[in-house]
Amino acid sequence: MTIKLFVNDEEKTWDIAPDEFLAETLQKHGYASVKTGCGAGACGVCTVWVDGKPMLSCSALSARMNGRRVTTLEGVEDEARALAQKLLDEGVDQCGYCSPGFIMLVLAMSRELTDPTLEEMKEYLNGNLCRCSGYQGKYRAIERYLKGTEAPRP
Ligand code: FES
Ligand code: FES
Repeated sequence: MTIKLFVNDEEKTWDIAPDEFLAETLQKHGYASVKTGCGAGACGVCTVWVDGKPMLSCSALSARMNGRRVTTLEGVEDEARALAQKLLDEGVDQCGYCSPGFIMLVLAMSRELTDPTLEEMKEYLNGNLCRCSGYQGKYRAIERYLKGTEAPRP
């Protein structure tokens, strides 16, 4: 079957299998930021936006994307780079595998919530699992990203 959709504001016409999931379709077409982990909606690593809202691409059928607007990390590169720098400044990234999904979620949160509290952040981001680095440094990095402040230098 054929779907027409917009990916990062570019119109695409793709042939897909009826049972294909969005993560697979995006990976096949070169969107290298889209990772998969559990493949079952439980880890958040595959998060992209569909019509501006976060969605787990491992669990979204590509057949349902006809006419929709999909955004991957490649489509928000400047913001992603700025947030990634804050994460680096806090020294929280280890393997980095969770980062694309995490960044997509944080950038969605920054559009939805004004000045979120720590509890609101935790609630918004609780679908994204990080197996190596823990979360405290990540929350500090997000706070600095949202407030535009720098990490203290040693
Ligand atoms: S790969 Fe999609 S939620 Fe884990
Ligand atoms: S930094 Fe390795 S899973 Fe998060």
